[in-house]
Amino acid sequence: VKTVWCRVEPPYPVLVGPMASDAASAALRGIARDGGWDGSVLVVSDRNVAPHHAAAMESLLASAGLRAGVFLIEPGEGSKSIASYGELCAALLRGGLSRRSAVAALGGGVVGDLAGFAAATYARGIPWISVPTTLLAQVDSGIGGKVAVNLPEAKNMIGAFHQPALVVADPASLRTLPERDFRAGLAEVIKAALIGDAALLALLESSAEKVLERPVDLLTEVIERAVAVKCSVVAEDERDEGRRRILNLGHTFGHALETATGYRRFSHGEAVAAGLVASLWMSSELGYLEAGAVARIEAVLREWSLPVRAAGVDGAAVLSAMGYDKKFTGGERVYVLLKGWGEPWIESNPPEDLVRRAVDRMTGDGGRIP
Ligand SMILES: NC(=O)c1ccc[n+]([C@@H]2O[C@H](COP(=O)([O-])OP(=O)(O)OC[C@H]3O[C@@H](n4cnc5c(N)ncnc54)[C@H](O)[C@@H]3O)[C@@H](O)[C@H]2O)c1
Repeated sequence: VKTVWCRVEPPYPVLVGPMASDAASAALRGIARDGGWDGSVLVVSDRNVAPHHAAAMESLLASAGLRAGVFLIEPGEGSKSIASYGELCAALLRGGLSRRSAVAALGGGVVGDLAGFAAATYARGIPWISVPTTLLAQVDSGIGGKVAVNLPEAKNMIGAFHQPALVVADPASLRTLPERDFRAGLAEVIKAALIGDAALLALLESSAEKVLERPVDLLTEVIERAVAVKCSVVAEDERDEGRRRILNLGHTFGHALETATGYRRFSHGEAVAAGLVASLWMSSELGYLEAGAVARIEAVLREWSLPVRAAGVDGAAVLSAMGYDKKFTGGERVYVLLKGWGEPWIESNPPEDLVRRAVDRMTGDGGRIP
């Protein structure tokens, strides 16, 4: 079991290794004791994850002397709703959970964001532990304390900052993850490498094919390194007031791509992959990255069957989702770019023509606003 510390106040450990381990059990026992927990925990999970992993989760809790109930949600983004949040809080109350009880999130980003938000607000805030089971959640959403539910009109609109007391990321739990979700998670892994760990980037390049077989030893190293990048950024800017923006490398283009395609054609990770390429292309056009840099990353993404372009998407719709339309009334446009491997750079107000050319290149056809 590898341990990465997320050094916020108070710091908490991210364990990368088996759920069923003495290390995880001892860490949880210690945290529950020091935190004065009353021993009751509600495990929140979804109907895809629980059949595979709830038993391991419950034995981890039992081995730490904790009593668990289980609350299951339907899989999918639709469960990150005010309605599910209300049902979960009602279940916490019915289960007799007090201010000294805890929530455990066992699942992907949907479960983590919902369960974490319930923990942030139930009885004005109770502790939670995060047990992410998607690659995206293990390297990104399951750590860092941003928790939220959606409004029908806006994602993540109702939320809080509430750090978990412990994170247990078990690479073996990814064995049951559907292929498309695993590959999408790799986009966030390579993003972490690009913004903070050139050695991880080299490892991903040299083992791009092997990682798809999900060997636990390789995944452990990859996840540990990506978690270290995320934790260091979070520790510098826990409440998202500046530095944390670098985690959005590729996401300005990626989000716009998701919006322009009605959230149907690309998963989030797939859109981020094409967005990373666009950001790197902008970086090299500005002379920040050497020629060949874009091709290097494209080769890895292709190996993972992740899109490096979004051919056929309406470029005008992408630009409009990025705010380049008649409504724009001024202000600052901020892009996360790279000034070298592992060296993120915040570019304010890049030339509009450069952004348009990046979108043209990404969508593969004209797509210019008349
Ligand atoms: N809080 C943050 O900082 C942050 C960061 C990035 C994304 N997010 C949020 O994360 C969410 C996306 O997370 P996600 O990609 O993990 O999606 P998800 O939670 O929907 O999981 C993807 C699918 O995989 C299934 N699944 C999960 N683990 C499994 C396993 N081990 N075996 C089999 N099936 C499994 C789920 O049931 C689901 O169908 C979005 O709502 C996004 O807004 C939050």
